[in-house]
Amino acid sequence: MICKMFIKPELGKLGLLLCLCLILWGSPAEPKDAPADQKQEYYSPHLEATISCRGVGRPLVTEFLILPDLKNHVKSFKDKTVLDIGTGTGIIGLYAAKLGAKKVVATDIEEAAIECTQENAQRLNLSHVVDARYVPPADTSAYAVIKPEETFDFIMSAPPYQLVLDNLKSDQGPTIEDLGFTIVRGLEKHLKPGGMAILFYRSFLYHEVLVKFARYMGYEVEHSTPPALCLNEAEALLNYYLAGVLKTQNIPSEAFKFDFEEERRLKVHFLFFKKGDSSALTEHHNGFIIIRRKPEQKLSAKI
Ligand SMILES: C[S@@+](CC[C@H](N)C(=O)[O-])C[C@H]1O[C@@H](n2cnc3c(N)ncnc32)[C@H](O)[C@@H]1O
Repeated sequence: MICKMFIKPELGKLGLLLCLCLILWGSPAEPKDAPADQKQEYYSPHLEATISCRGVGRPLVTEFLILPDLKNHVKSFKDKTVLDIGTGTGIIGLYAAKLGAKKVVATDIEEAAIECTQENAQRLNLSHVVDARYVPPADTSAYAVIKPEETFDFIMSAPPYQLVLDNLKSDQGPTIEDLGFTIVRGLEKHLKPGGMAILFYRSFLYHEVLVKFARYMGYEVEHSTPPALCLNEAEALLNYYLAGVLKTQNIPSEAFKFDFEEERRLKVHFLFFKKGDSSALTEHHNGFIIIRRKPEQKLSAKI
């Protein structure tokens, strides 16, 4: 029933609310309601087309929280070149192509995502614009399949942000998602002077860290912080601290930990919203980071 509401172009307010509730409990690229190999389709109001999401999942967060921001911040894609890193269904790159980009390179580490993007480009008659490239496991850094001389007017990504703390016992600190870092590190080489990189994080932690990192690298940054901690990052950070607490009390580290999937009664999402600010839920849940490379910009940091 809920799924049917998503695929209708004329979403009512109720549909949007239900959609946002679902988004809060799931990642944008994780199909919750069908096996990965089952054909999935989805009507995208921004693309004005039904797209394939087979093996990738429906891009609901991107559709309802990211593309409206993109529309607000990019005056025109006309005749521009675009790199969409971690493309999923291809939705961000396809949107830029639909708005007039002359070339879009879309990359992903999942073969299913590349197949989806190619199929969707065909459906939108944009195959001549969109070049979908598979990133093999040997090197998954942001520009692994980009030629050294390739540069872009826009570099965009909704990078993964999972916090994985399973290796805490090794004392090496948390496993990190470093795609965002490699995107920023490579801007000097692949973002045209005067160009713009846009990162979309729902994660408060990665968002704030990447804003600081881009500034440290010498870029001008404009951003809007996601107004809530994601459930999984709250859980991971609390467990990281809890491990230290247990150690001081001589309690085995595996004795107990936070598991907010199990403990939904805690309603943690709402604890982290600004009190009384329901607009955070309905209007501004996703963050965006705009990194500008000024023409003739010399960067100060050297890492
Ligand atoms: C949060 S999803 C975003 C998907 C799509 N851009 C959207 O907005 O719906 C992140 C995507 O990045 C891909 N990904 C993860 N690590 C990557 C890497 N190192 N290089 C390229 N893509 C990657 C994942 O397979 C996934 O499709």
